[in-house]
Amino acid sequence: MITIKHRNAMVRLSEHVYEPAEDSYLLADTALELVSDGMNVLEIGTGTGFVSAVLKANRNIRLVGTDISPLAASCAKSNGIDVIRTDMFTGLKAMHQFDFVIFNPPYLPTSEDEKVPGWLNYAFDGGVDGRKDIKSFMEQVCDYLKPDGIILLLVSSLTGINEVMQEVEQSGFSSQIIARDKCSFEELVVIEAKRLNVSENNFLN
Ligand SMILES: C[S@@+](CC[C@H](N)C(=O)[O-])C[C@H]1O[C@@H](n2cnc3c(N)ncnc32)[C@H](O)[C@@H]1O
Repeated sequence: MITIKHRNAMVRLSEHVYEPAEDSYLLADTALELVSDGMNVLEIGTGTGFVSAVLKANRNIRLVGTDISPLAASCAKSNGIDVIRTDMFTGLKAMHQFDFVIFNPPYLPTSEDEKVPGWLNYAFDGGVDGRKDIKSFMEQVCDYLKPDGIILLLVSSLTGINEVMQEVEQSGFSSQIIARDKCSFEELVVIEAKRLNVSENNFLN
């Protein structure tokens, strides 16, 4: 069994579950700078639970994760994460709203013949433009975020950073890039999104 260690967190990897990579590390390190003790945090698409485990190992927080893949949900559970195996936010209806909602989505533009077999496809396949799950996430996230809550969204230059920021803003949020990492074939960024307040919304209308 392979285990990785990062910032006091020990995380076991599992076959057919997304192995934490540069995107996971960038999101975990950025979230750790912002999340404080006492907060309620939701991670959508937790995978192995790596990002959540880093937060839990360093902060006294309440955290829940979701993942659509049963293999990922079981791996995250073995890493100590309270996880619900579900599509995006489904099954969280009765729960409280969160201070932070974080998501490292499947963000690669993917055609039919680029899909990989099995549950691992959900880790990569962002639909033809790479933004399918981001759109679905932005349509639903409002109901799960406190009025002053913050979204942290990891995306790649391959996804179209400007297009994602437009999508975020059209959903009624401000968006700004708060962290970047240049990798071999892509640039990764963390977008921070906050609800635009009522007067700003009125002004824009
Ligand atoms: C790029 S991986 C990120 C995994 C982990 N958060 C990390 O940073 O290492 C995306 C994850 O989102 C999950 N996922 C994809 N679509 C989902 C959906 N509709 N609802 C919940 N999880 C989803 C995948 O199964 C995968 O574990």
